[in-house]
Amino acid sequence: MPASILLVESAREAAAAVAGTLAGRCHVVVRDTLAGALDVLQVEPFDCALLAQPLRDALDLDGLRALVARHDALPVVVLAARGSEDVAVAAMKLGAADYVVKRAGFELDLPRLVADAVGRGALRGALEHASGAAQRTELSAALRERLRTAGIVGESDALVQTALLLERVASSGAPVLLEGETGTGKELMARALHLWSDRARRPFVAQNCAAIADGLLESELFGCARGAYTGADRARPGLFEEAHGGTLFLDEIGEAARETQAKLLRTLQEGEIRRVGESATRRVDVRIVAASNRDLEQEARGGRFRLDLYHRLSVVPVRVPALRERRGDVRLLLEHFLDAYARRAGLPVPRVDADAWRILESYAWPGNVRELQNESFRLMLAASDGRITADRVSVSIRGHAARRQTSERSLKEILRDVESATIQARLRQHGYQRAITARSLGITREGLWLKIRQLGLQLPRRGSLQES
Ligand SMILES: Nc1ncnc2c1ncn2[C@@H]1O[C@H](COP(=O)(O)OP(=O)(O)OP(=O)(O)O)[C@@H](O)[C@H]1O
Ligand SMILES: [Mg+2]
Repeated sequence: MPASILLVESAREAAAAVAGTLAGRCHVVVRDTLAGALDVLQVEPFDCALLAQPLRDALDLDGLRALVARHDALPVVVLAARGSEDVAVAAMKLGAADYVVKRAGFELDLPRLVADAVGRGALRGALEHASGAAQRTELSAALRERLRTAGIVGESDALVQTALLLERVASSGAPVLLEGETGTGKELMARALHLWSDRARRPFVAQNCAAIADGLLESELFGCARGAYTGADRARPGLFEEAHGGTLFLDEIGEAARETQAKLLRTLQEGEIRRVGESATRRVDVRIVAASNRDLEQEARGGRFRLDLYHRLSVVPVRVPALRERRGDVRLLLEHFLDAYARRAGLPVPRVDADAWRILESYAWPGNVRELQNESFRLMLAASDGRITADRVSVSIRGHAARRQTSERSLKEILRDVESATIQARLRQHGYQRAITARSLGITREGLWLKIRQLGLQLPRRGSLQES
């Protein structure tokens, strides 16, 4: 069934040009005012709306606000007036699915933009469905097998939810943004996403954007013409071309330079790249998975990352949970790593004592799975007699466990502190007049005196205390 598109455009000629371009591929309904659009939306469902600027009856982005507020599932593509790139960015912030500036020939981009927006609308529906379904899903045999093939260990709710989401969106081709602390498994998840997608037979290519100088990153990603810079003695394809048909993983995307960000944005918008030093463009079909261990949205709002690029990359945002949010997985992961290392070294798998487990399972693992992986390796080496005892656990981890024990106060201790603080504050408030203080606390004078003694409270010198 062809997609049905609502075009809202006040200029008659422009409306005819756009409708003409889309006719044949889509069912297009045209309205020349916002009011007209809102009316028809009451009675007819659409897969996507194209909202042109300016409109006769709506200022700037008011039309978009009205559509988003009333029809939040409808993808809206803004057709911005010329020279209003700022408006375009604001539109994305407000929830537009996409935007295009009405330059000469912009209609030619529309079929692809509309297809993308419609696809994303459908995807959003699927995601909402997925998050509802996930709550009820046990770790199915099928998912267990998928996790195994991807080398992902864990059965905690937090991990299963993440995996379910990735599985659900794997074949959509939509850009995915993986966010999570260092060592949580973002790269592993990116590989899983590729493996579970219909691109699995094509390449998975990874590039860490922080590990390479700005200029080099650009030629690495987009390739370069011969002589594009000193040392470029031959033309070279970039990673986008290498990943054609597959997945390109852009790790630490927040570190990419401004110019590279701009080029990435163009590529995501237009599906084509240009090698550095070349003027011809090449079409590429690449699924982008980006990762960041910082909150990229906050970076974008703080002006440290392009907001429009953030919106393009985060069509499917996925937060990879920290290990302390899935403590249940600590034991499984540790057993898995011990098993793997022992097997590789041709040694028996060491046994972990109960005390050692207690320490390992209560530790917060700020370095997440990577830290746990390193500790497993250390423990395997330390277990000379095949046993892992508490004193063989790294000193830093044991130290944390000890501190935790001393800082974990009993209920009695907590109540005692509350009592003590309350009484002292109340005494101060009433000028250390014990009768008034006792009354305000709902106890007798004798009771108060007893508490002061029991709690060992320091009061001003006796002479300064007023008996009342
Ligand atoms: N659930 C898991 N099961 C098995 N191994 C895991 C799991 N999560 C992470 N790992 C392993 O932990 C290590 C760190 O994972 P990965 O490199 O994917 O983390 P990251 O989030 O990309 O970290 P960084 O932000 O530091 O780049 C890898 O060796 C990975 O294979
Ligand atoms: Mg990584």
